[in-house]
Amino acid sequence: MNKKSIKIAIDSPAGAGAGTQAKLISQYYNLFYLDTGKIYRLLAYYKLKNPKKFNLSFIRKKVKKIKLSELNNKKLLPNEIGFEASIISKNKKIRGLVDKIQKKYAYKPPKGFNGSCLDGRDITYNILPDADIKFFITANVKIRARRRYKELKLLNKNIKYPDVLKSIKKRDNNDYKRKISPLKRTSDSILINTTNLTINKCFNLIKKIINKKIKSTSKTI
Ligand code: C5P
Repeated sequence: MNKKSIKIAIDSPAGAGAGTQAKLISQYYNLFYLDTGKIYRLLAYYKLKNPKKFNLSFIRKKVKKIKLSELNNKKLLPNEIGFEASIISKNKKIRGLVDKIQKKYAYKPPKGFNGSCLDGRDITYNILPDADIKFFITANVKIRARRRYKELKLLNKNIKYPDVLKSIKKRDNNDYKRKISPLKRTSDSILINTTNLTINKCFNLIKKIINKKIKSTSKTI
């Protein structure tokens, strides 16, 4: 582990709780957090809003000018946006543009942070292959759909659980089976199954793993 900074990489399918854990990790260890799925969601939002304008030069401009505050916008949360994100993220050229910005934040987080924590689909082997700690966070698909349904219900009262389950399964299919940067668990990623874990229990488990790693490399952060 580098003495100056710590890099944590997380990959996971939709709804497994990776984002929640990544935020908790980042707050606790003062790491810069990047939810990489939000970048694909932002592009998906632009595509759905104005499909005719959505070409490579438009995407390049948008990616270059991305403001981190834009990624927190609630407009990126709906199911359709997540699904569209899983379609555009199969495109090699788009991924190339998005990879650059992810790597920039991963390796050069803004001043004041002790390092970075990124979550997504290809973080452990493509964006941060040399991360200090790698996690693959997953859960049973029905539990994942149930959690996502509860979140989405707050935004859209008419949403139905079976539709969310169907959409998560389709998204899993897109993410695991695509040729470019598929979702996978690398051999050096620690598996965390959140099916039967509360948020707190899961975070305590993750903290133990990170603290052990920090201790073993006698790093202070
Ligand atoms: O994580 P989230 O569900 O917001 O991601 C939306 C979609 O963006 C995913 O289903 C996936 O297709 C894509 N994505 C990706 N690579 C990443 C992060 C997200 O392909 N690193």
